[in-house]
Amino acid sequence: CGIVGYIGSNNALPYLMEGLSKLEYRGYDSAGIAINLDQEIKVFKSKGRLKNLEDTLDKSMNTVLGIGHTRWATHGAPSDVNAHPHTNENSTIAVIHNGIIENYMEIKEWLINDKKVCFKSETDTEVIAHLIDYYYEGDLLEAVNRAIEKMEGAYAIGVIAKGEPDRLVAVRKDSPLIVGLGAGENFIASDIPALLKYTRDILLIENDEVVDLRKDQVTIYNVFGQKIEREIYKVTWDMESAEKEGYEHFTLKEIHEQPKGVKETFTRRLDKNSNIVLDGITITAEDLKNINKIYIVACGTAYHAGLVGRRAFETLAKIPVECDVASEFRYRDPFIDEHTLFIAVSQSGETLDTLQSLREAKRKGARVLSIVNVVGSSVSRESDDIFYTWAGPEIGVASTKAFTTQLTAFYLIALHFAKLSGSMNDERIKEVVDELKMMPEMIQSILDQSEKIQKLAARQFNNEKVFFMGRGLDADLALEGSLKLKEISYINSFSIAAGELKHGTIALIEDNTFVVALATQDKLYEKMVSNIKEVKARGAHVFAIAKAGKTVIEKSADEVFYIPETLDLLTPILAVIPLQMLAYYISSIRGNDVDKPRNLAKSVTVE
Ligand code: G6P
Repeated sequence: CGIVGYIGSNNALPYLMEGLSKLEYRGYDSAGIAINLDQEIKVFKSKGRLKNLEDTLDKSMNTVLGIGHTRWATHGAPSDVNAHPHTNENSTIAVIHNGIIENYMEIKEWLINDKKVCFKSETDTEVIAHLIDYYYEGDLLEAVNRAIEKMEGAYAIGVIAKGEPDRLVAVRKDSPLIVGLGAGENFIASDIPALLKYTRDILLIENDEVVDLRKDQVTIYNVFGQKIEREIYKVTWDMESAEKEGYEHFTLKEIHEQPKGVKETFTRRLDKNSNIVLDGITITAEDLKNINKIYIVACGTAYHAGLVGRRAFETLAKIPVECDVASEFRYRDPFIDEHTLFIAVSQSGETLDTLQSLREAKRKGARVLSIVNVVGSSVSRESDDIFYTWAGPEIGVASTKAFTTQLTAFYLIALHFAKLSGSMNDERIKEVVDELKMMPEMIQSILDQSEKIQKLAARQFNNEKVFFMGRGLDADLALEGSLKLKEISYINSFSIAAGELKHGTIALIEDNTFVVALATQDKLYEKMVSNIKEVKARGAHVFAIAKAGKTVIEKSADEVFYIPETLDLLTPILAVIPLQMLAYYISSIRGNDVDKPRNLAKSVTVE
């Protein structure tokens, strides 16, 4: 979910709507605002996209105080009534909330039985409004402080009270929240793009902090109620990079930004002699000797980057690595001690599953390194070592440029560790670095052939099922190809390690089943050609991806797309490009909302 809030001297509405539109990627099944108008709290909300909300607003309204929310349903189905903001019975308190109140049932029962409160919705947020009202005696800050003592869970909230038209109170506990500072006006939001049009002066709010906002003053309190001084963070990147720049969708723009993203990610880490310098990582040779195991933990596309990362560490740095999805890792009692390095991978740096795994690992003594795109995000702030991918803001829900920059990060970190541990000599490290430097150009050469993929998409967009297969690194990448396709095209897609086919999945291959076969690994090439023959013999239509010059495959596959010749270890950064384009074009031909696929959110801050 995304939250915004305004207090100032101008009309709050334009900011609330602009901010929400920038936060739609965090969830978009319903949206709403609450404003203080003529000494009353007025709430407007509606199911579906922001446009629906906009239609319910009277354009002549003018207010200097308001809060807004865009929702991704957790408790209660998407509906007008479950949409935020929520109020108490006589609408004297309004609340927006991102996150989950774990003990909301308990509080709700207490309010119903003892205080005879009536509830309108099924949400945990409504409980907050009633709870604050229960404690309210004319001082909103005090009431919020008392209410949060009772609330368990992870949340960020924004609250306004009818009796205090000059005050907005916000709290951050494990869900993102920032404050924007203006002249005679102040803002809250879940993240920076929501504010950029209005201010570049940001206060990053920490966990367990409560913020009291007035139009010309912002006071931050810590958990003990003490006032905190916070340095202003100045945003230097511009809004243009968060706009579409002529592309039909953010997803397509972001696919095309990969040469730049990958280049930015490594050039900032190479000195003029091409030595790797990782500023945010302070692990020494001595520290590394002490590390006997690495866990890479992430969700979604970042997890797939982690799978490739695992092979990079094993091949280059010779360190045992396990890679797991965050929602599983946390509950499997992993063996972690002070000899463990935990690597979190996250574009947003706010994915709660990843964050909670990180905390668990830290509690057990692991050193924590994170690969994150968003500067100042929760994951980065709680890590010992940080590698920022410089992909720039990623807006499309389906992650693309974050993935290739995460791979770049893994290659650089693995090479850095190889140097520290002495598992590779300088000459071999240089060979890989030199090859890595070619990646932006090679990615561009693939993007330049987008027409081929567009034509393929035009022929294959109508399939009901698609299979992705590969061996070694290609098996990892098959997972990403399949995820990309299913999340934006809604086609039932599967991925399988090609050698596993014969143990079950091949039963699903019929006449004309579309199979995407990845065959970029030299040492597994012949084996892949055999797997292609196996599915061909059952009637499959095979689209293969191979390295330039490896043409034997043409005899078995129906169509072949060639990526430039490079080291086996680096092929995922190239082979993923046609897979992303295939998913994009199929989704677009099917008329889907590519940037905002149904049921998904860009940043999932619930477990
Ligand atoms: C969501 C997004 C995915 C993303 C995953 C992890 O599910 O829809 O595209 O890969 O979260 O996000 P993160 O920000 O942690 O990389």
